[in-house]
Amino acid sequence: MQSPASTLFTDSPIVVALDFQDAQQALAFAAQIDPTLCKLKVGKELFTSAGPQLVAQLVDNGFKVFLDLKFHDIPNTVAKACEAAAKLGVWMLNVHASGGSAMMQAALEGTSKGSTGTHTPYLIAVTVLTSMNQAVLHELGVEADIEQHVLRLAQLTKAAGLDGVVCSAQEATLIRQHIGQDFLLVTPGIRPSFASKDDQSRILTPSQALAVGSNYLVIGRPITQAADPLQALHLILQEIESTSV
Ligand code: C5P
Repeated sequence: MQSPASTLFTDSPIVVALDFQDAQQALAFAAQIDPTLCKLKVGKELFTSAGPQLVAQLVDNGFKVFLDLKFHDIPNTVAKACEAAAKLGVWMLNVHASGGSAMMQAALEGTSKGSTGTHTPYLIAVTVLTSMNQAVLHELGVEADIEQHVLRLAQLTKAAGLDGVVCSAQEATLIRQHIGQDFLLVTPGIRPSFASKDDQSRILTPSQALAVGSNYLVIGRPITQAADPLQALHLILQEIESTSV
């Protein structure tokens, strides 16, 4: 059944985090979901368990896949990893901005080299993990406050030619102000009004996150753990639609 909301999104902003233990669970979930309504994020747990075959299968099934492996290594190794990821036909992949400009530029070259078909995958960077606080930065010898450091790494990412960053929705306004519109902001920590907060603390609703400048919203448990995932997805798209008019 096609939802009225789904017709509004030629490029759905929802990226469902497939935080499952194995390929069987992930594929069972994906079978319930229409690829036009969302993208899928494959992270370290699922990739380590299910491997590139699962990614290729999801791509074959028509899904746009964000391969969230956050590469951080010497430039040559990261370039080769990005090339291999791009060959799988993923829609988006990422690296750590703290790997530096040379590593990010190598990632960009590897991504472009491995690209198949018409779409070169979006390459984005993680700035400061939201699990880190000021004390952790201090421990690592970073004296800047977190916001300054996030902004510095986002600017480095932009200068290296990448497409955007993963950031908390709280940081979106600051990054937009300094870097402008031509930069993707991908934000986790999203909870629709009907969902539980789980272990996320600084949360925004999907509409709030889009209003502060996020382009794509990473949402896991409110969809994956719902009794009816497709209905939860439709509800979120409708919630966005009802606040964007
Ligand atoms: O289930 P939930 O919506 O909390 O899942 C959010 C997803 O985004 C998870 O895959 C989590 O690892 C990821 N993520 C996050 N916070 C970050 C970075 C990534 O929640 N700062």
